[in-house]
Amino acid sequence: MALCALYAVWAIFVEVAVTFGPVPRITWEHREVQLIHFHESEVSNYSTLLLSEDKDVLYVGAREVIFALNAVNIAEKQHELRWKVTEDKRTKCAVKGKSEQTECRNYVRVLQQLNDTFLYVCGTNAFQPTCDYLNLISFELGGKNEDGKGRCPFDPAQSYTSVMVDEELYSGTSYNFLGSEPIISRNSHQSPLRTEYAIPWLNEPNFVFADVVRADQNSTDGEDDKIYFFFTEVSVEYEFVGKLMIPRIARVCKRDQGGLRTLQKKWTSFLKARLICTIPDKNLIFNIINDVFILKSPTLKEPVIYGVFTPQLNNVGLSAVCAYNLSTVEEVFSKGKYMQSATVEQSHTKWVRYNGEIPNPRPGACINNEARASNYMSSLNLPDKTLQFVKDHPLMDDSVTPMGDRPRLVKRDVKYTQIVVDRVRALNGTIYDVMFISTDQGALHKAISYENGMHIIEETQLFPNFEPVQTLLLSSKKGRRYLYAGSNSGVVQSPVAFCDKYTTCVDCVLARDPYCAWKPLEASCVDIFKESEIERNWIQNIGGDASSCSDKVRENSLQHTFKHGSTAELKCSQKSNLAQVVWKFKDDVLRVESPKYRLLEKALLIFNLSEGDSGVYQCLSEEKVKNKKFSQVLAKHVLELKKVQHTTAGPTVAAAPTEGNSDVPKVSAVSTEGSTTQTSTTQIVPVTTARITKPIGPVLTSAASNTELFNSIPDAVPEKTMFLKSNDNFLLMFLFLFFFILFLCLLSYNCYKGYLPGQCLKFRSVMLLGKKKTKSDFSDCEQSVKETLVEQGSISHQSGEQPKPAHDTGYETEPDCGNGQLQPGDVLAPREAKDKPFDVKCELKYADSDVEGD
Ligand SMILES: *[C@@H]1O[C@H](CO)[C@@H](O)[C@H](O)[C@H]1NC(C)=O
Ligand SMILES: *[C@@H]1O[C@H](CO)[C@@H](O)[C@H](O)[C@H]1NC(C)=O
Ligand SMILES: *[C@@H]1O[C@H](CO)[C@@H](O)[C@H](O)[C@H]1NC(C)=O
Ligand SMILES: *[C@@H]1O[C@H](CO)[C@@H](O)[C@H](O)[C@H]1NC(C)=O
Ligand SMILES: *[C@@H]1O[C@H](CO)[C@@H](O)[C@H](O)[C@H]1NC(C)=O
Ligand SMILES: *[C@@H]1O[C@H](CO)[C@@H](O)[C@H](O)[C@H]1NC(C)=O
Repeated sequence: MALCALYAVWAIFVEVAVTFGPVPRITWEHREVQLIHFHESEVSNYSTLLLSEDKDVLYVGAREVIFALNAVNIAEKQHELRWKVTEDKRTKCAVKGKSEQTECRNYVRVLQQLNDTFLYVCGTNAFQPTCDYLNLISFELGGKNEDGKGRCPFDPAQSYTSVMVDEELYSGTSYNFLGSEPIISRNSHQSPLRTEYAIPWLNEPNFVFADVVRADQNSTDGEDDKIYFFFTEVSVEYEFVGKLMIPRIARVCKRDQGGLRTLQKKWTSFLKARLICTIPDKNLIFNIINDVFILKSPTLKEPVIYGVFTPQLNNVGLSAVCAYNLSTVEEVFSKGKYMQSATVEQSHTKWVRYNGEIPNPRPGACINNEARASNYMSSLNLPDKTLQFVKDHPLMDDSVTPMGDRPRLVKRDVKYTQIVVDRVRALNGTIYDVMFISTDQGALHKAISYENGMHIIEETQLFPNFEPVQTLLLSSKKGRRYLYAGSNSGVVQSPVAFCDKYTTCVDCVLARDPYCAWKPLEASCVDIFKESEIERNWIQNIGGDASSCSDKVRENSLQHTFKHGSTAELKCSQKSNLAQVVWKFKDDVLRVESPKYRLLEKALLIFNLSEGDSGVYQCLSEEKVKNKKFSQVLAKHVLELKKVQHTTAGPTVAAAPTEGNSDVPKVSAVSTEGSTTQTSTTQIVPVTTARITKPIGPVLTSAASNTELFNSIPDAVPEKTMFLKSNDNFLLMFLFLFFFILFLCLLSYNCYKGYLPGQCLKFRSVMLLGKKKTKSDFSDCEQSVKETLVEQGSISHQSGEQPKPAHDTGYETEPDCGNGQLQPGDVLAPREAKDKPFDVKCELKYADSDVEGD
C-alpha cells in the first residue's frame, strides 16, 4: 500500500519524459506586437487588478499605491492614491523580524467593487492587514481602517483570494501573523461566518481563486447562490512519504447563517472535494492548481470551470488545463459520499469512505424549497445531528472528474500561471472557447480545442523581462476585447488577436483564429468583432482549410549580382512554427543538405558561386493541416553572374569561403534589405511539391515532431537528457537516492516473494513463506491507498521483514482487490517494474467505523 504511493511518484518521474503538447503556431516577440504598458517608477508588485466594464476603468493595486487607468488605453492614468504604512508600524514590523524595506510595506491584496461609488480595498499594511472604503469620485480612502484579519493576508508572500457578492466580501487567506491559521470567511455585518480551525476543514491551503455562481433564475427548486473556492492543500486521505498536495474545490451557500449551537458563526454549508486532472494512460497526475476561471455565458447551459494545473514534482515543466462541468461538481456535493476519519492504534488517523446513514436534511446542502417545506427556513434551524455531521465530514469521498476524463491541453516546458477563457462564435456559427493562458516567463498562449485536439494559435511575449504573469483579466465587452496582465514590474494591455499581422489570405486562414477572417475585396485580415457588419464572402476556416483563398501572385523578385567564388545570402523567413521552408532553384527543390548550401533560420547561404548558380530561387513555406499541404512563396531571388571584377555590392556583405582569389576582396552577392516575408510574392501552389529533406534548425525540428496534437501522439521516444538537464543537483541526488532505495526495496521484496530466481531463493528460504498477491492496477492501488489502514513508517518495513498485517480492529476485511495489470510507465520503467509486479497490498478494506452495522 505504501508502495502504491511510491508508485505514484515513480510514475510522475518516469512519464514526464514523454513529449507533449502542440507548438504555438506563431511566436510574437515583445517588440513585434503593439502592447500598451503601464508602470510608474518606484512602484512595484502590480498584482491586484479589477476591471469595471461599465466605466471602462481598470483599477490596479500595487505596493502602497492604487491606480485607476483608462481600460481602453491603460497608459492613460486617471487617478492615483498612495496608501503608505506609517513609520511607527514599519518599525514595529521590523522589530518582529520582518524586512523593513520589503515585507513591512503595504501590499494591496483586495480590490473589490462594493457599489457604484465605493471600492472595498485591503492591504497587508506591514503585517497588520487593514481594509478601507475607496471613494471613486474623490479617489480617497474613507479612513475607516477596518481590521483586515481574515480578509487579507498578513504576509505579502501568502496566498489569498476574494470575491464580492452582494456587498459582502468572501475571502480565503490566513488569519494570523505566522500564516498558520487558514480561513475562508464572509465579512458581513449581519452574519459573518468562517471555517472551523481544524485540519479536516483546511490543511495548509494555498488559495488560488474564488467566484460566485448564481442559482438558475428559472428553476423552481429555490436553490441558493453558491460561492466556490479553489486551492491546493495537504492531503489527509492519502498516505505518502512527504506531503502529498491535492487540488480542491470547496463551496459555501450565500444564505448560510451558521448554526444556532453547533457551528455558531461557522459555515454550515462548507464542503470540499478533490479535483481530478490526470492522464490515466500515462499515469500523470497534475495535483497543484494554479488558477481557475469560471466561464459563464448566456450561450452556455451551465458554467464551465477551467483550471490550470502542474504536477507537484515538476522538474521538466509540465502544465495542463482541465475543464469541469458545474453539474459534475454539484453532483458530487449533493449526492456524493462523505469521507470520515477513523482513529487507528490510538494516535494515527485514517480517512475512509463513510457508508453509514446520512442525517436529514443532507449535511452541507444549501437551504432550498425542499428544506423549507420541512420547516428548515434557515441554517439556524438545522438539527444538531446534521450540523455535527458536516462539522466532522467536510470532505467528500467522490472526486470531481474533468470533462472528457482528460485534460483539455497538456504542454511541456512551460509553467502555466493564470487562465481566462473567452467564448467566441466563429463566422460559420460554431462556438469556440478560446483559452488565454499565461506562463511564469511572461508569455501568453492562446489556444482552442478543435476536434478533440488542441491548437495553440499564438504565443505572445507580454513582458520583455520574462517575469511571471501574476494576474490575468479579460474584458469581453462588445467590440472591445482586451487582456490585462499584471506582474511585479507593471501592467500590460493586449488585444485578443493580431489579425492585421497576417498579410495573405492563406496566412489569415491557417492561423485558425476564430477572431480573424479574410476580407477578399480589401485583401486584409480583420478582427470580425471589430467590424460593424459581417459579409458572406469573408474567409475563415478553423479547420485550417485555406483552399478557398486566391491570393494574387505579385511578381516582384529581388535581383542580385555576384562574382565567381563568392557567397550569396538569400533572405527568407516565415513566422509559422508549424511550417517548413522549402527552397526551389529553377522550379526544382534545392538539395540544401549539400555542402554548397547552408540553411539558416532566416536565410540561405550559397557558397563558391559559379555560372551554374545563376537563375531564379524561390523560398516557399509549406504548412500541413490535416493531410492538406498549403504552400506560399515567401520570397523570390534572382542571381546573376557579374562580369566586372570590382563591384560595389549590395547593402549586406557576406564573407566568402577562405579559398579563392586571395588578392580580390571577397565581397559580393547579397540579399536586399527589407525583404520581409509577407510582402514578397505570394501564391498558392497545389499540393505536389517534393518533401523537404532537412529541417531548418531547432525550431522547426521540434515543430515537426509536435505538430500533432498530444493525444494522437502514441509514445514518443523520451529524451532522458531533457529530464536530467532541467534538474538542479540537489533534486538529482535526492532522486538517485530515492530510486536506489526503492530499487533495493523492490529487489528484496520481490525476492522474498519469489518473483526472482537464483541466489535470492536461498535468501528467501531463510524467510517465512508468504502468500502471493495478484497484480493490481493503479486505480485499485489508489483506492487501496485511500481505504486501507497503514502505519506511518511501514515503507521501511516493506524491505526485509514480512509486511505486518494490520492488527484486528474489528473492521470488515476483504480479500484481494487486484484484478488489473500494473502498467509501470512505458519506456523508461525499469525491468523489475515491468516484469515483476509491485506487491500492492489491498486485502484490507475498512468499512466505516461506527455507524451502520454491515
Ligand atoms: C455604498 O456603500 C457605502 C458603504 O457601505 C455606503 O455608505 C454607500 O451609501 C453606498 N452607496 C450606494 C450608492 O449604495
Ligand atoms: C515585489 O516585487 C519584487 C520585484 O520588483 C519582487 O522581488 C518581490 O518578490 C515582490 N513581492 C511580492 C510580495 O510579490
Ligand atoms: C428563463 O426563462 C426565460 C423565459 O422562459 C428565458 O427567456 C430565459 O432564457 C431563461 N433563462 C435561463 C437562464 O434559462
Ligand atoms: C457537461 O455538460 C454538457 C452539457 O450540459 C454535456 O453535454 C456533457 O456530457 C457534460 N460532460 C460531463 C463530463 O459530464
Ligand atoms: C464550422 O467550421 C468548422 C471547422 O471547419 C467545422 O468543424 C464546423 O462543422 C463548421 N460548423 C458549421 C455550422 O458549419
Ligand atoms: C568551387 O567551384 C569550383 C568549380 O566551380 C571547384 O573547382 C572548386 O573546388 C570549388 N571550391 C570549393 C571550396 O568548393
